[in-house]
Amino acid sequence: MTFNRDRVALDALDTRLTQIARRLLPGATGAAEGNSVTLKALFADDSERTERLSLSVGELHLDYSKSLIDSEGLAALTKLAEASGMQGAISALFRGAKINQSEGRAALHTSLRSPESANAPHSALVSETLASLREFVDRVHSGEWTGYSGQTIDTVVNLGIGGSDLGPAMVVDALADFALNRPRVRFVSNVDPAHLARTLKGLDPATTLFIIASKTFGTLETLANARAARDWLVAASDEAAVARHFVAVSANIHAASDFGIEASNIFPLWDWVGGRFSLWSAIGLPIALGIGFEAFEELLGGAYAMDRHFETAPLHENLPVVSALLAFWYRQYGASPSTAVVPYSQDLSLFPAYLQQLYMESLGKSMSREGAALPFKTSEIIWGSAGTNGQHSYFQQLHQGTEFTPVEFIACATASVDGGDERHRQLLANCLSQSMALMNGDETSADVGADNWEPQKTIAGNRPSTTLLLKQLTPQNLGALTALYEHKVFALSVLWNINAFDQWGVELGKRLSKEVYAALSESAGSLTNQENIEAAASVESASTLDASTRALVQKISSWNTPR
Ligand code: F6P
Repeated sequence: MTFNRDRVALDALDTRLTQIARRLLPGATGAAEGNSVTLKALFADDSERTERLSLSVGELHLDYSKSLIDSEGLAALTKLAEASGMQGAISALFRGAKINQSEGRAALHTSLRSPESANAPHSALVSETLASLREFVDRVHSGEWTGYSGQTIDTVVNLGIGGSDLGPAMVVDALADFALNRPRVRFVSNVDPAHLARTLKGLDPATTLFIIASKTFGTLETLANARAARDWLVAASDEAAVARHFVAVSANIHAASDFGIEASNIFPLWDWVGGRFSLWSAIGLPIALGIGFEAFEELLGGAYAMDRHFETAPLHENLPVVSALLAFWYRQYGASPSTAVVPYSQDLSLFPAYLQQLYMESLGKSMSREGAALPFKTSEIIWGSAGTNGQHSYFQQLHQGTEFTPVEFIACATASVDGGDERHRQLLANCLSQSMALMNGDETSADVGADNWEPQKTIAGNRPSTTLLLKQLTPQNLGALTALYEHKVFALSVLWNINAFDQWGVELGKRLSKEVYAALSESAGSLTNQENIEAAASVESASTLDASTRALVQKISSWNTPR
């Protein structure tokens, strides 16, 4: 399906926004040397700017007044959202239209957090699955679920990658202060054997439960790790132990059963839930095990509140839409190649990594929804890490580098640990002062007196940022924050006319890795098992590799003398 785009209005608005950008955005096409309107001037001209350019939803508050935008620009951007068919696209998302047209699927992650009474699409299926998850979680927590030796489970290891890892891992880490005493939850994603080996070190097979989290149950990394984990368990017990120590979350029930997992321990997922939008589904099982089912439900509740806002708020007051419009503005008209997302919260240190998949796997596309080459740049690069650490590494570039990078600061008003108030104030002071420094710069330190001028000390300022404040990092607020970014990504996809829900670019690498794996196995002389023979057969011969890759394969094997 396509969204209702008003081509004529979009072209006119594009011309209008290009003109506005010339006076506001560094790097805009046709902008005069030095922009005529600066952030400082925008504040000086409008005493109510902060009030007007701020939005609150529940316990989330966005101040976007330090953005390089004025009233005229905001009005034109809102019109652009209208002309892009935003309102219709939002309705299509929630009602379950097949908006992922390249795969013929709906994208109904919002149904996963709708209460049954709201009667969202698939609500009965969602409730049924939540009930079975709750029952399982209760059995683990109560100690009724035991391992092969009759002991209770004290550690859960989630084996999954991409959307089957990043979302739940981010939430479990962010909400560590809500963690129950037992079980502790660990995540293994990388096929690098070091990841599993390090995680299993010191664990007792008799008290460890594995979740194989894979929507397709066909992902190489996850299956390789699952097989290695099973070997580790069986070495300490026997095959019969597998059923007590492995559960799965998957849309591919057959493959999960073939692995040896009992049907009652396979929690379903459906094709209308995209991997990177799946933490609200049974993929969230490690979250519920780690922080308890009630807290998991609060997370869903927070996301649901953001869903309601996204579906009903007018576009100019719609937090995800306004956030998307600002990102679009910088990327489309300011030639800004990246955005830094900097949570001033150690608890949210995995948030940028989670966001990278959500954002760039969704928006890193160069074809329109209709399959035409897009004549403009799409997704900017998302990067960042927890503050204040970033201040002592890449912030130099943010302040004095040759390109401007919009910064999204995220901070929590209250400390997450008892007795940490004073240091938390230091943290917040650093966050707020960085956005001030980016905006105001410093023209005076360069003047060191006695006719001495040290230009390298000049900080020009006029660099934009937004600050998103959470009252506190609770499950509810984390749910709202995460849903905010999900909807921002969707709103951006509507503005760029992109399908946010497929990821064909990832598939090529998966295919090629089989060819290279066959070549590596061949040169290591280890084509002994069925898996390698199949891999080799699929490519016929490693000679299909290019010269550079072939040489690298040879170098690796020459350095891999048999142990
Ligand atoms: O990396 C591509 C991808 O398909 C992601 O979209 C997905 O989240 C991840 O692989 C894992 O897939 P699965 O859950 O099927 O193992």
